[in-house]
Amino acid sequence: MKNPLYNLLFFVFFCFYLNAQNHSHSHKHDGLHHWEIPSKDPDRIILTFNGDPSTKRAVTWRTDSSVKKAEAQIAVAGLNSRFTKEATTYTASTEEFDLGLYKANNSLIVNYHSVVFEDLKPNTLYAYRVGYDKNWSEWIQFKTANNSYSPTQFVYFGDAQNDILSHWSRVIRMAYQTAPNAAFVIHAGDLVDTAHKDYEWAQWFKAGGFIHSQWTAIPVVGNHEFQRTDDSSPRRLSIQWRPQFSLPVEQSLDSKLHETVYSVEYQDILIIVLNSTGQLEKQTEYIKDKLSNSNAKWKIVTNHHSVFSPAEGRDFEYARRVWKPLFDKYGVDLVLNGHDHTYARGHIPVKSPNINQEGNFKTLYVTSVSGPKQYKVDREQMKNYETDGYKNDKLGEQTQFFQVISVENDKLIYSAYTTLGTLYDSAIITKDFSTGKKTISNEIK
Ligand SMILES: [Fe+2]
Repeated sequence: MKNPLYNLLFFVFFCFYLNAQNHSHSHKHDGLHHWEIPSKDPDRIILTFNGDPSTKRAVTWRTDSSVKKAEAQIAVAGLNSRFTKEATTYTASTEEFDLGLYKANNSLIVNYHSVVFEDLKPNTLYAYRVGYDKNWSEWIQFKTANNSYSPTQFVYFGDAQNDILSHWSRVIRMAYQTAPNAAFVIHAGDLVDTAHKDYEWAQWFKAGGFIHSQWTAIPVVGNHEFQRTDDSSPRRLSIQWRPQFSLPVEQSLDSKLHETVYSVEYQDILIIVLNSTGQLEKQTEYIKDKLSNSNAKWKIVTNHHSVFSPAEGRDFEYARRVWKPLFDKYGVDLVLNGHDHTYARGHIPVKSPNINQEGNFKTLYVTSVSGPKQYKVDREQMKNYETDGYKNDKLGEQTQFFQVISVENDKLIYSAYTTLGTLYDSAIITKDFSTGKKTISNEIK
């Protein structure tokens, strides 16, 4: 029989142990909102493209560091819950990630998990879930792309960046109300203000909530996705970027550009994502290569810094001198930018005296903002771009926007909405695919 004193001592030590555990656990969570704190349940679930959008889709999520094994399951969505019997299970790649790499974050290890769903059927509504054991997400639906040209719709946001939870949430939610079936969403850089600050990423994910897990994201880096982790280190890409977005790796590019420069071809729409924060020359070859080898019906380029910058003192001269001639030459239809915290839509017409000037059109350029930070338009500066052939069609200030872009038959319909859900600006590009000839009509003056 055991000595009662022994039992008492054991009990006292055990209580000390529990207390110490609780203390260290809570210390790591000091100052965090409950929605920042990772748990065994998946959070920050987001879809991205990684391979052919008609047969593949990537999903990434986060848990606490105790979850060493994670899975994702996917099945063709059914009328009732029985579809889950047909689900295919994927084992996730799991990577441990220390938020404390950035000194202003809590020193906290979290686990990121990712899976690329493969061999999916085109144009099919799937349901997936992520998790393991007793900790699964809900089943979430998304549709694969068609394997041929067909009507589609997508959303584009300029910078979210500041007060993301308080003031960007109503923009992404109104965008979702306006275009719930959007096939994907372009976030044109400066998703957050402080690259590595986990509190801001937590806000970005909370503001969008389940929308991030349903719409497939095309994230673009901005200058605010780069920052030092401490005073002695160089600026580097947001430490969260690569763990939380599973993006295509372009092997032909310098590894520093990986997962910030990539392309997606969605139902004959080519989207080239650039990193306008640096190594621009290295991307020029990539642009030339992608555009010259593509027969896509529509060609779209997105990068953060505005090619025709509407805000005072901003000038992305390199893009106008080197990239714009490539956009001209290879018939880029649409260029989507951010950075300037204001709104400008303009276009480049075809330079020829013999062309009918009504609807004369080559490329549409848009700068927009979705977050609350707002700058003024420099109208004088906008005039200077006329020497490049740029013609401004619409400006906007002190307004948070989102854009819905629809592609249908021979038309690309561009619509800018305010956060109130009202249409602010619209243009329709019509293209003859056999000759490449395009016209534009500005729907709102
Ligand atoms: Fe910016």
